Amino acid sequence: MNLFKDMLKDNESLFKDEIALDYDFLPKLLPYREKEQFYLANCIKPLMQKRNGKNLLIHGPPGIGKTAATRYVLRDLENETDEIYPIYINCWKKNTSFKIITEICSQIGYKFIQNKRADELMDEIKKIINKKSAVFVLDEIDKLDDMEFIYTILEEIYRKSIFLITNYKSWLNNLDERIKSRLTAELVEFKQYNAKETRGILRQRMKYAFSPGVWEDSAFEMIAKKTSDLKDIRSGLYLLKESATLAEEKASRKINKDHVKSAIEKLDEFSVKKSTGLKDDIKFILDIIKKNSHSKIGDLFQKYKKDGGSLSYKTFQRKIKKLEKGKFISVEKTEGGDEGNTSIIKYKGTTKKLTDF
Ligand SMILES: Nc1ncnc2c1ncn2[C@@H]1O[C@H](COP(=O)(O)OP(=O)(O)O)[C@@H](O)[C@H]1O
Ligand SMILES: [Mg+2]
Repeated sequence: MNLFKDMLKDNESLFKDEIALDYDFLPKLLPYREKEQFYLANCIKPLMQKRNGKNLLIHGPPGIGKTAATRYVLRDLENETDEIYPIYINCWKKNTSFKIITEICSQIGYKFIQNKRADELMDEIKKIINKKSAVFVLDEIDKLDDMEFIYTILEEIYRKSIFLITNYKSWLNNLDERIKSRLTAELVEFKQYNAKETRGILRQRMKYAFSPGVWEDSAFEMIAKKTSDLKDIRSGLYLLKESATLAEEKASRKINKDHVKSAIEKLDEFSVKKSTGLKDDIKFILDIIKKNSHSKIGDLFQKYKKDGGSLSYKTFQRKIKKLEKGKFISVEKTEGGDEGNTSIIKYKGTTKKLTDF
């Protein structure tokens, strides 16, 4: 027997194309989202006839294809016509008007940005885009710090569709009236995939990313099941990649259930870290308190859940403590009464910024 015979050699890999597991890899086909893509395309269609397009607020929980479906539509549009600028901005990465404006310059091919102020650049953008029309996709819109940019394009770009994407439907409630009334966005809800769809999507990615036959069926099924429980395709992609990496480290020619088990453990650690560090959770919670000042903490938590929040009650309570410490809110404990002890949360009008703490 040769101990090394069945081991993966140094120059061999289980991966065929690892890039296919990147979160922003856009597959050739995007199954199960045909209806949504068609709807988006229809909102853009008037632009092709030189009329104004529709505006949308696309919402739904994370990891269910909102970004992918929208980018897919933009890619098709780009292949179809030169008369419409497809502009995609991730507002988490570009969170100020100035960053967005320079990004748009780059996307429409305007190069003379040096030493120009934002308003000067915006003038150039207007000149260029108003000769044609544009679709503006502002993804993760809840991360945008200043809304002035939306107002500017609403007012100054003649023919456009604006698609805003967020995990939180309630984000629209916080939008300035001045913008809201001009935007008149229709709501498009993306629903979670069911188990069969989740499995189908992961299978497709597996075929792109791996050499045939390297996955044991049971190992893949385990990932499909876990992803379906977590309801987030991104965690499935993470598990595919991590399991294979672990298998490679052990020089295994097959990816089996043990590799997947270890990957799942790592994922659990990773999600815990992720959910404790997020600043936008706290902003989201504060927005809810602002609208429902003088509410009981339990009622606020229900609202938070209903609007798409995913933290546990314990973590939610910790965030409330943090907001109290930062003097954004006040917490008043009541004792006795019909419902026993509870806390009443009040919003304190403050000019302090959340980034200050
Ligand atoms: N229907 C689908 N077919 C293929 N891949 C998908 C599909 N839906 C989501 N994905 C993949 O899942 C990951 C998460 O999707 P994404 O669009 O980023 O989620 P969201 O924007 O809703 O948070 C991406 O890598 C994306 O390519
Ligand atoms: Mg997204």
